[in-house]
Amino acid sequence: MLTINRGLISLFLFFIISNCQQQKQVEETTIAKKEGVIAQNGMVVTAHPLASQVGLDILKKGGNAFDAAIAVQYALAVVLPKAGNIGGGGFMVYRTKEGENGALDFREKAPLKGGRDMYLDKKGDPIKDLSLKGHLAAGVPGTVAGMDEAFQKFATLPFNEIIQPAIDLANNGFELTEYEANSFNRLQDDLKKVNNHTPYLVREDEYQEGDSIYHIDLAKTLERIRDNGKDGFYKGETADLIVKEMKAGKGIISLEDLASYEAKWRKPIIVNYRGHKVISMPPSSSGGLVLGQLLKGSEYFDFPSFGVNTTKSIHVMTELQRRSYADRAEHMGDMDFYDVPIDMLLEDNYTKNRISDITMDSATSSQVIKSGEVSTIESFQTTHFSIVDKEGNAVSITTTLNSFFGCKVMVDGAGFFLNNEMDDFSIKPGVPNQFGLVGAEANAIAPGKRMLSAMTPTIIEKDGKLFMVVGTPGGSTIITNVYQVILNVIDHGLTMQEAVDAKKMHSQWLPDRIIIEKDCLDSLTIDSLQQLGHEIKEINSIGRIEAILVKEDGNFEGAADRTRSGDAIALGY
Ligand code: DON
Repeated sequence: MLTINRGLISLFLFFIISNCQQQKQVEETTIAKKEGVIAQNGMVVTAHPLASQVGLDILKKGGNAFDAAIAVQYALAVVLPKAGNIGGGGFMVYRTKEGENGALDFREKAPLKGGRDMYLDKKGDPIKDLSLKGHLAAGVPGTVAGMDEAFQKFATLPFNEIIQPAIDLANNGFELTEYEANSFNRLQDDLKKVNNHTPYLVREDEYQEGDSIYHIDLAKTLERIRDNGKDGFYKGETADLIVKEMKAGKGIISLEDLASYEAKWRKPIIVNYRGHKVISMPPSSSGGLVLGQLLKGSEYFDFPSFGVNTTKSIHVMTELQRRSYADRAEHMGDMDFYDVPIDMLLEDNYTKNRISDITMDSATSSQVIKSGEVSTIESFQTTHFSIVDKEGNAVSITTTLNSFFGCKVMVDGAGFFLNNEMDDFSIKPGVPNQFGLVGAEANAIAPGKRMLSAMTPTIIEKDGKLFMVVGTPGGSTIITNVYQVILNVIDHGLTMQEAVDAKKMHSQWLPDRIIIEKDCLDSLTIDSLQQLGHEIKEINSIGRIEAILVKEDGNFEGAADRTRSGDAIALGY
């Protein structure tokens, strides 16, 4: 308690010193009010216009938010194959119109023939790229099982009506956006290197915006899913094609892995933040737990007076993030395999102790256990979508192949990419994954175990009513991005669109530094953070939030991140 008081005193002093600059920023944010798309009956926010349209059409024809979400997930597998997927996995958090909430875990699993040291050489050192590229990097996909669970529990439309838009897009073709044309161009080298066959996406000339693209093999796979449900993927021809692909590339996913895969309903993580009920994803994602810790810690600080992206807000967020990501590395993993101390990590006393050594006048040093250096992140590729329907059902789904087009292996004859989610395990204690995240026993590889994720699909209630649906891609930055958007709305009074557009920061204990988006901070603020002992690194962009806010008048504000991804779009009616 004593240290908290000391912290509060230095906080007060700090206030006086940098108040002018922050006052200015607070004023600026209250003047400019920019809203996203406003609608009364329903809202779909996704990373691709065709996927948003598919979701909106389903809502308009009377489907609920779950019908729309399943349709969107399959449509994204067609129109956004670098991240939307059937060869990957993800998480869903939902809130029904009756106020019931829950979470669905359709995260990939380690194959049964996998094991703790599968990415290490004889000396026990990680083999470069083995957990990232090629067949061995793939976990057993979970998406189709996840969508099947969601369908069985909540759907109101027949499955063939829900999946047909995706099949039609794949069969009839659609025009590439500039972003997607560029993605296919960037993929070419890896596509040729990693695959033993020549995937139909290989092209000698460049893809251009407006090119028509068809995914005929993928359409056939989707038709098998339409006709046989999840067995159309986990058994029969699709399963045979996946296993054949594995054998051709020294992969280890077997028919047994596929036939035994199950998505799991989980109890969501729920914390209160300044009178709001925040519902988020439990392990096998660390998203909800870390977000919960960040929000609980934030209640001890006067964020509303700090303002957006000021020295004080960045300093305190960094200190909280440092502690929560250290906890993540040690304590979090698949709770079917490891006893994650969820209650303890969210206890009030634990939070108080954890923040008791935060002061306003200097940065704490992250204990350097291993180097924690981030290897070059080739490209972040995951995708989030948020949907609400007119009855008030809300769905928040984050889904991924992990890297850009996953492990780059396209299943020959089946037309879809496999994930490289195995890299999200701690392949050796203390060795950072592609996002610089370190881990230990809790997240060690074991057959059938799910690798720890940072995905944070989240739903927030205020006064017992739906308030926000939010989530983002971005690897380790997902949690801190969702966290900042929540503070931006609840503490700083921004609209949903402003909160999404606002520049973001991120820190994660190791490496011991803050990354900021270009133009996030002015040079004065950077200087004052450096004086506190923070190392700062600027990068181009962080995350791509797709979110919905329920406004006071009951209308929905859909906010797509068009500044970081021009394809993202909110469509409402
Ligand atoms: O599950 C995770 O945390 C990561 N595999 C997510 C990867 C990601 O967000 C990459 N793209 N933006």
